[in-house]
Amino acid sequence: MKDRLVLGVETSCDETAAAVVCNGRSALSSIIASQDELHAEYHGVVPEIASRAHCERLPAIVRLAIRDANIGLNDLSAVAVGNRPGLIGALLVGVAGAKALAWRLGVPLVAVDHVQAHLYSSLMAAPGSAVPPDCAWPALGLVVSGGHTTLYRLDSPTTMQRLGGTIDDAVGEAYDKVAAVLGLGFPGGPSVDRLAQQGDASALRFPLSRLDKESLDFSFSGLKTAVRYAVEGVPGPRRKTQHSRPRDADVCASFQQAAIGAILIRLERAFEHHRDCRTLLTGGGVTANSMLRAELEGHARRHGLDLRMPPMDLCQDNAAMIAGLGWHVLEETGWQGGELSVSASPTARV
Ligand code: KG4
Ligand code: ZN
Repeated sequence: MKDRLVLGVETSCDETAAAVVCNGRSALSSIIASQDELHAEYHGVVPEIASRAHCERLPAIVRLAIRDANIGLNDLSAVAVGNRPGLIGALLVGVAGAKALAWRLGVPLVAVDHVQAHLYSSLMAAPGSAVPPDCAWPALGLVVSGGHTTLYRLDSPTTMQRLGGTIDDAVGEAYDKVAAVLGLGFPGGPSVDRLAQQGDASALRFPLSRLDKESLDFSFSGLKTAVRYAVEGVPGPRRKTQHSRPRDADVCASFQQAAIGAILIRLERAFEHHRDCRTLLTGGGVTANSMLRAELEGHARRHGLDLRMPPMDLCQDNAAMIAGLGWHVLEETGWQGGELSVSASPTARV
């Protein structure tokens, strides 16, 4: 089989990323320019600031990805771009850049769904690592990120059905809000993760969302408010005159226990409903969380599942997952693509 190199471009939120991937699984390079410092003072991503930074940074990031892969632009077989879901202005920058490059090189352009690509990242190798073995299908998929907390059933990397998802905040967003309440940096996930390791998870009792017994949906807004009240005191007539603020480490550990507990309950339920699935694909920024990784490993061991988690470098938004899934789509469509009509969309495909 001829080796095919695909350039991936990712600009859906606040990471400007480009990567080169060989035969869909092996990342030769993966460059990610984070904009954290631009958004930190707002404790969240400001869309207009994100779009402008993508415009300024994308050409240099693509050049770095090509240089790190040790190839020339003419070695590329295709360009893949994450065109949905995300911030529309941010997506448009990546789509316009990828279109221009594909047109200039005369290679196909393929549009990829960012959420689907997060799941695909669990089947990939980061630069310098060995490609993992193929997995069995059908599989269940869990995406946990700053924008999504969703369960899927997949029959292949490109065929999936949504089983349930958050009805309010995404779990990563809850991590970021808890960090903001505690005055930790942005994004908050990594700091809450670190601090939780020094805390007592039984110090505070936070609620697990009680949705319908059969539901595969999630809700994190109640948990977020409970954390706020525990830290700042309950507002209004129920406010105690003397509120003693709990230790930050205990808040983080107790919050994590509740958030990850809610994810595991839904996961267990999903496997009960889909007994033919023996593979679990995971993806998204929160899969970098140490407790979630340990809990998922325990869950997979107990239930005899083939658990796939992205390599740490491919948990957060990256372009390797876009190029990898793009290769897969092009294999299915016979490397046709070439679609300069590709457009951006704020919503997910499934
Ligand atoms: O996938 P991602 O880079 O962007 C989206 O598609 O949303 O995920 C970013 C999210 C942020 O909310 C960040 O706080 C969270 O992933 N995150 C973590 C950890 N590292 C990143 N959450 C918990 N523990 C971590 N170690
Ligand atoms: Zn993402």
